[in-house]
Amino acid sequence: MTQEKVRLHRGLRDVYIDRTQSSFIDGKIGKLLYRGYNIDDLAENASFEETIYLLLYSKLPTQSELDAFDADLKANRALPEAIVEIIRLTKDAHPMDVLRTAISATAAYDPDVADNSHEANLRKGVRLTAMAPTIVAAHAQIRNGKDPVEPDLELNHAGNFLYMLFGERPDPRDAALIDKDFVLHAEHGVNASSFGARVAASTQADLHCAVTTGIAVLKGPAHGGAAEEVMKMALEIGNEENAGPYVRNLVEHGGRVMGFGHRVYRAVDPRSVHLRDDARELGERKGQPKWFSILQEVIEIMQPYSRRGICQNVDFFSGAIYYLLDIPDDLFISIFAMGRIPGWTVQVMEQFENNILLRPRLEYTGPMDLEYVKMGDRD
Ligand code: CMC
Repeated sequence: MTQEKVRLHRGLRDVYIDRTQSSFIDGKIGKLLYRGYNIDDLAENASFEETIYLLLYSKLPTQSELDAFDADLKANRALPEAIVEIIRLTKDAHPMDVLRTAISATAAYDPDVADNSHEANLRKGVRLTAMAPTIVAAHAQIRNGKDPVEPDLELNHAGNFLYMLFGERPDPRDAALIDKDFVLHAEHGVNASSFGARVAASTQADLHCAVTTGIAVLKGPAHGGAAEEVMKMALEIGNEENAGPYVRNLVEHGGRVMGFGHRVYRAVDPRSVHLRDDARELGERKGQPKWFSILQEVIEIMQPYSRRGICQNVDFFSGAIYYLLDIPDDLFISIFAMGRIPGWTVQVMEQFENNILLRPRLEYTGPMDLEYVKMGDRD
């Protein structure tokens, strides 16, 4: 029996699976738009709350729309007691495992869980976005033997996250850095985690399933885990002089420089430009400019690769920012996840609007038509 000849698209590289109105990426020149607005303008001018509104409602909010939206987000920050209990029970796990588990469990307390209408998904997207920082911060407190810190309704989304994480009101400059970081991570085409979320939605599973899938897929070092790995690399390098030998040795042995390379960008990831400036300023402000210098040196050494389209991505500088803010390194991916929940929500809503089951095929290359051997007759 002969098999039909197939054309493989391994890794779905450059395969368009659908249309979107949410984000646009021009990987050749390093351009990113959310709903038509350039990420450079949003990073410098828009708050995360404004960005979520833009993504969910396809327009920039007026002041009164933003105020109402912000009040809605704030009203949904608190966690059901059972979720706090689940965090206590799983406190020794990696923070991303705790976030994934807790987000999944919130389905049990969401009155709209099985409603896949556009309106219900807007409500659920707001709830999941609002609760994620509370989950991450509560876990950080609980694993340190403390009680979770109640949300502070006077602080914005980013400032309140830092407040709940450290138990004291943050320097507004630090809160502004996390706010911008969330804006930069909010949405990014059909990346691996958004694709995972869309696959879940394509079966008509609900938003909680899709966001849980997104968190699961984000965890890997080829996706959201890279920021943690970049900072580990910077710590191992230790000083500027060591960057050259370290990176050359890594690449010569087939290793990958974390925070470099991207499936879509062949130029510098525009998000990394904003994070670079923030990492430099924060390093100077904290009296620790060395991490930025080490990372800059890595970029210099990687110059020959940039000609092949392997440039720094969004994760390259974000790890240094979190590190300088004293955020534990195993929380780095969770921060990415907190920023990305609006993006997953939008992708799921788009998938539902014009749904089709995402079900590709695999070319079978194993043996064929083997004769079944009964247990007693096997060697
Ligand atoms: N360091 C050194 N070489 C690299 C790197 C890197 N970071 N990334 C790609 N290459 C090389 C790779 O070895 C291969 O070379 P060759 O053709 O000689 O075998 C070539 O570039 C193409 O690599 P690929 O694996 O086919 O490319 P991909 O599109 O499948 O991988 C990637 C994209 C992001 C997984 C990869 O660049 C990578 O592993 N980067 C490091 C991890 C990282 O920073 N991830 C964060 C991505 S951005 C944030 C996000 O969206 O999650």
